[in-house]
Amino acid sequence: MKFAVLTALIACVPTFIDAASSRSPYDGASVFLIPSYVSEVQAAVANMTDSTLAAQAALVEQVPIFFWMDVSTKVPTLGEYLAAADAAGGTQVVQSVIYDLPDRDCAAEASAGEFSIADGGAALYEAYIDSIVAQVEQYPNVRVVFIVEPDGLANLVTNLSVPKCANAASTYKELVSYAIAQLQQDNVWLYLDAGHSGWLGWPANITPAAQLFASVLQGAGSGATVRGLATDVSNYNLLRGAEDPVQAPNPNYDEELYINALAPLLQQNNFPSQFIVDQSRSGVSGIRTAEGDWCNVLGAGLGMRPTTDTGNTLIDSIVWVKPPGESDGTSNSSSPRYDTHCGQSDAAQPAPEAGTWFQSYFEALVQNANPAFS
Ligand SMILES: *[C@@H]1O[C@H](CO)[C@@H](O)[C@H](O)[C@H]1NC(C)=O
Ligand SMILES: *[C@@H]1O[C@H](CO)[C@@H](O)[C@H](O)[C@H]1NC(C)=O
Ligand SMILES: *[C@@H]1O[C@H](CO)[C@@H](O)[C@H](O)[C@H]1NC(C)=O
Repeated sequence: MKFAVLTALIACVPTFIDAASSRSPYDGASVFLIPSYVSEVQAAVANMTDSTLAAQAALVEQVPIFFWMDVSTKVPTLGEYLAAADAAGGTQVVQSVIYDLPDRDCAAEASAGEFSIADGGAALYEAYIDSIVAQVEQYPNVRVVFIVEPDGLANLVTNLSVPKCANAASTYKELVSYAIAQLQQDNVWLYLDAGHSGWLGWPANITPAAQLFASVLQGAGSGATVRGLATDVSNYNLLRGAEDPVQAPNPNYDEELYINALAPLLQQNNFPSQFIVDQSRSGVSGIRTAEGDWCNVLGAGLGMRPTTDTGNTLIDSIVWVKPPGESDGTSNSSSPRYDTHCGQSDAAQPAPEAGTWFQSYFEALVQNANPAFS
């Protein structure tokens, strides 16, 4: 009897220890292009009258972005993309964002989600994660990279004075631990969201941030792991470069400085210290009036293309997480999802609701691309 129990335990081990997370998901793989974004870009290009700009914009179709599961009805679409990647053959990576915490975006208004803690949102979120698990398990030959919950844990480092964040703190932590615990398949790589240099890179925030990531990983159970962290998601900071004046006097004023400072703190806390960095809209620096400005910032341009040639062994890949052209939030002050950041002087206006297509902003991003598209 004892022997049978032991055998059962041993049989469980290979599915629980995620050997895959010890190497980069991008090694020797092609990154899958998300069809819905390709269609959005094609429609946008068809509407452009400037043929030079249209030709540049058409090249954006070929840049892989992340598929955002910002509502649970998008999970079956992930399944369609996994099936398409599987059918394409070779070693494919499908990139997606898990983004549906109850009381989401607790320190802002623009991206409030479908689930509320007061209304059974925690159980609904667990069902959302379970449905994602069911999809990835059907396609064991497709590598899946997930960024887990942009801004969620970062809000708990700096924004507990906001009542909605204080109220959500224990739920966010338990649910991110739940997501990690359930997504330990060999074909899954997890990067928790770590805000960005101008947020958690500040000396007062970086140590508490490392401790929070570690405690959430511990909450997932002793065998569970992640690949590391994602930074600058939907933001505008450079990977490396001259200091943006709005970052002063932050010593970790770009993403690489932040990552280099954070990695040893993670290692001290037994948290894996590999990174991916969003540069989709980080082509132009020095465009914000305050570092905390995040909404459709005027003057932004497309940034470095995705590459594994990152010049830093801590960084697995430069990625494009935010699909350029999709709005960060509406500038309509009568909308229930209006956030004042979207009505500031450094925000492009008039802007449509978060996630919807913003044609003139897309055109400006292409125009200001650095490096240029040609
Ligand atoms: C393209 O232009 C048409 C006609 O003006 C409009 O209905 C459609 O929404 C536009 N598409 C995009 C992606 O801007
Ligand atoms: C959340 O924290 C950031 C960083 O400290 C701060 O800039 C921002 O104003 C806070 N948001 C709210 C709504 O308090
Ligand atoms: C702004 O939002 C309000 C409330 O949703 C809506 O009635 C109005 O039509 C919107 N205005 C514009 C210009 O979209």
